[in-house]
Amino acid sequence: MICSPSFLSCDFSKLETEIKSINHAKWLHFDVMDGIFVDNITYDEKMVKKIKAISSQFFDVHLMIIEPEKHIEEYIKVGADLITFHLEATEDSLELIKKIKKSNVKAGISIKPQTSVESLDHLLPYLDLILIMSVEPGKGGQKFIEDSLPKISYLSRKKQLYNYNYLIEVDGGINLETAKRVRQSGCDVIVVGSFLFNSSNRNQLIEELENV
Ligand code: DX5
Ligand code: ZN
Repeated sequence: MICSPSFLSCDFSKLETEIKSINHAKWLHFDVMDGIFVDNITYDEKMVKKIKAISSQFFDVHLMIIEPEKHIEEYIKVGADLITFHLEATEDSLELIKKIKKSNVKAGISIKPQTSVESLDHLLPYLDLILIMSVEPGKGGQKFIEDSLPKISYLSRKKQLYNYNYLIEVDGGINLETAKRVRQSGCDVIVVGSFLFNSSNRNQLIEELENV
């Protein structure tokens, strides 16, 4: 699997050092929160621009914001490699997916725990990635929600059946035990925040997580 560290739980007073401490990860996960779609506020495209100057990783940008269609351009401009927005946050998901892809950026969609995975069916042929939230979006350090597993298996089966190209990513409550379970269900990418940033040997833990 690919590990996409979320630095939401890092020590922001030494951000550069924290980002360098996970340089074995090929991806880097940005948790953008607007305080409306989710209660918490984190950062905006300026954080992506700032970290672009010190990292050559694949920038996996998770927009937990309302009206993502109004902000996509900003994230494309600062160098996002993948932009994932929430199905629950916009009226015309297909339009937005096409707009992102037209800019040669990968397009992802995410669903919250209480949103059914079948609600994505009509979008599957167009997506580069689907992000299954295995915690309620808004903060790190929460417990993994078991009901995420059948959603992963559902998407994995559809992918095989119809030969779709999307990656399946899971975000929230990932540790060595839950990483193994989501892999067994068909997950391709794991977002790991607190479990990684609470550890001292992060690059070694990234290797372990990618090979559970
Ligand atoms: C929730 C965030 C978190 C974060 C990962 O909105 O998206 O899921 O990325 O946090 P941990 O790994 O601490 O659950
Ligand atoms: Zn996230």
